[in-house]
Amino acid sequence: MENIILDKLQRPLRDLRLSVTDRCNFRCRYCMPEEIFGPGYPFLSSDKILSFDEMERLARIFAALGTKKIRITGGEPLLRKDLPELIRRLKEIKEVEDIGITTNGSLLKKFSPALFNAGLRRVTVSLDSLDDQRFNQLNGNKSNVARVLEGIEAASNVGLKVKVNMVVQKGKNDQDIIPMAKYFKEQKHTLRFIEYMDVGNSNGWRMEEVMTKQEILDLIEKIMPLEQIKPNYVGEVATRYRYIGSDQEIGIISSVTDSFCSTCSRARVSAEGKLYTCLFSSKGFDLRHLLRSGESDDAITKKITDIWNHRGDRYSDERANGHSNNRTKVEMSHIGG
Ligand code: GTP
Ligand code: 5AD
Ligand code: SF4
Ligand code: SF4
Repeated sequence: MENIILDKLQRPLRDLRLSVTDRCNFRCRYCMPEEIFGPGYPFLSSDKILSFDEMERLARIFAALGTKKIRITGGEPLLRKDLPELIRRLKEIKEVEDIGITTNGSLLKKFSPALFNAGLRRVTVSLDSLDDQRFNQLNGNKSNVARVLEGIEAASNVGLKVKVNMVVQKGKNDQDIIPMAKYFKEQKHTLRFIEYMDVGNSNGWRMEEVMTKQEILDLIEKIMPLEQIKPNYVGEVATRYRYIGSDQEIGIISSVTDSFCSTCSRARVSAEGKLYTCLFSSKGFDLRHLLRSGESDDAITKKITDIWNHRGDRYSDERANGHSNNRTKVEMSHIGG
């Protein structure tokens, strides 16, 4: 039976973002800069990472607490061996209505058919520029634009709905906003512009580098007028717009200038099984220990309920209200954004 739980701000636990690996084959400067995530970086060893059995067990426990949506993240989730098998198992959980995956797209050409056959119906691909030189500067010289576009095409050809995420940094890739908007309008994929956030501790974030939602809108509207449209669901992170006279849409994720904590129903579990109740948390709660020490589903359910009931996180609201917060935060690659 479903047992809906609420946090201190009356927010339910509707979404689970499940990271399946802390590794990535890119080194985006805003997420895993090479100087820090170099050859000596202590990535998790395989014995520390949750198995598919453990992930499925947790997903079932979350589903019984009201979770309807699961997003698979990384690092780069397609680096996890046999990922389609995990998707197939999660698809069998009847309360789960939606499964997504956020990927850098570099391995999507190879895996799209297997992902679709496992039951996946949509993917979100991160792409910050259509210009190879800037793409490489931003993403750490590890791939090229054509490869990601081929991945997107392959995904779309097998029947996966594609969304594209572009993190916009002023002075770094704001010149790519219009080319990206035009290209993905033509390709009929939803493009979402993301305000650059102060996640993790490694990206040297400065407010001056944030291209705001309003600035992005002003730029696009000069060429392609937009109208705002209704959210797909309560608590959707992106504000949606449609190009007037077309049915193609875009989204803007404005967690810096227009925070959305009041409807945040997302829990995150890292690849090593730590539960984080906010993208900006300093510490996670070790669920792996419970999974591996013979605790019953009931005991784990009680623990998650207790943690969620005490949750009061609203980091982006606090940032917007000028409360600077210098705490150490979990790395983005650890909890998949
Ligand atoms: P949809 O299911 O397609 O709506 O996916 P999504 O937008 O929830 O997930 P995605 O992985 O595409 O995330 C898009 C961006 O929003 C990323 O930069 C995330 O880090 C950011 N994001 C997602 N959830 C949150 C959140 O709860 N808080 C903040 N601050 N940012 C978030
Ligand atoms: N600010 C905003 N978005 C970010 N992402 C990674 N780092 C940041 C950041 N500092 C994005 C990725 C991916 C999503 C999960 O989060 O590009 O699309
Ligand atoms: Fe990898 Fe995504 Fe982080 Fe880039 S943003 S380094 S692709 S996990
Ligand atoms: Fe949720 Fe934390 Fe993001 Fe606010 S900052 S929307 S509480 S994850």
